[in-house]
Amino acid sequence: MYYNSFLSKVSLFVLVVLQLSSSKILANENNGEQWFLNSIKTITYQLNKAASIYTPGKNPRSVNPDGTVRVAPYRDWTTGFFPGSLWYAYELTNDNNLALQAKRFTLALDSVRYIKDTHDVGFMLYCSYGNAYRITGDKMYLPALKDGASNLASRFNPKVGAIRSWDFYWWNYPVIIDNMMNLEYLYWAAKEFQQDAYKDVANAHALTTLKNHFRKDYSSYHVVDYSPTSGNVLAKRTHQGVTDESSWARGQGWAVYGYAMCYANTKNPKFLQHAEHIAKFIMNHPRMPKDKVPVWDFDVHNAMDVEEKAPRDASAAAVIASALLELSAQAKDGDKYFRYAEDILKSLSSEEYLAKPGSNQYFILKHSVGAFLYNSEIDTPLNYADYYYLEALKRYAQIKKIDLDKLANR
Ligand code: GLY
Repeated sequence: MYYNSFLSKVSLFVLVVLQLSSSKILANENNGEQWFLNSIKTITYQLNKAASIYTPGKNPRSVNPDGTVRVAPYRDWTTGFFPGSLWYAYELTNDNNLALQAKRFTLALDSVRYIKDTHDVGFMLYCSYGNAYRITGDKMYLPALKDGASNLASRFNPKVGAIRSWDFYWWNYPVIIDNMMNLEYLYWAAKEFQQDAYKDVANAHALTTLKNHFRKDYSSYHVVDYSPTSGNVLAKRTHQGVTDESSWARGQGWAVYGYAMCYANTKNPKFLQHAEHIAKFIMNHPRMPKDKVPVWDFDVHNAMDVEEKAPRDASAAAVIASALLELSAQAKDGDKYFRYAEDILKSLSSEEYLAKPGSNQYFILKHSVGAFLYNSEIDTPLNYADYYYLEALKRYAQIKKIDLDKLANR
């Protein structure tokens, strides 16, 4: 009896010493994770170079099949991601030039604050101006953020209980799963500008989407079309997936990210439970490839005869990785999400997906898909793949307590 308790005290002591020394190794030596260091070096090179050749207000979006770069004018939905990537890259590398460039590319988007016809103002402003303000605390970024949040919230219809995502096409009142991402902007703006109504809008949108966008297996539809007068669901469709009933990979990423973020902002247990259900659907999917970078739609093999060729979507993987890292910090059993996200990040940081410095038109990741069925942006770099990859690396570094200052000097 005495012997057993002595032994367990000794093992506890050994365990504590081992844990302490391993966390010190993590903080000081980056745990020997060469992939992370290599990735930081690539990011520093690519983004410094990109910022020197592209023009503010005409941000790099993707690479065309002929190798030229598709640039995004300020009205493009992806326009906030390049400045946002520069801000995250600055945080990851401490490279002052990246901060200067981030400011230059952010301020060129001032006119976005007047856009009222899309939920995308959230992506456009919160990823650029939002990060600028978060990092610098400079109040000059606030007026654009204030106008944008007001325009986004004004798209809410109480009859539907959701924000209208798009004003184009044949829809009556389309709400897309992507729209979940832009609630983060409203939660932040509610506090910053003392507008409780924004928080109410975000909560209502998340609850309506939770009720109508998901199938029994917690996969998500892409578009739910509502009647703007009765609020009834008229149709459940896709815009970018392979069929209405399929699971478009990036859409599943937007969904798990959205609910993990809503939980972080509200602590409503419904949102956490829902995020965990979606995560389970993604992580246990029988067609998730070994490297955990999904093809652009989980059901592409059922719908098209493209088994061999279905391209991967690194953007979906990056969004999922960032979401799972957030979830790992929120959920009780968070380690499984952390480990899965780490696997994704290691894959994206391998030579299969990470560009060689100087290549890939100075984008960071290769192999994403924009809209396959529209023959648009297939197997290309995408600025939002880079943005969520950088965000995920930053979250990863925070959780693992990687000393980024020290890393920057190596
Ligand atoms: N939000 C548009 C997309 O994910 O392609």
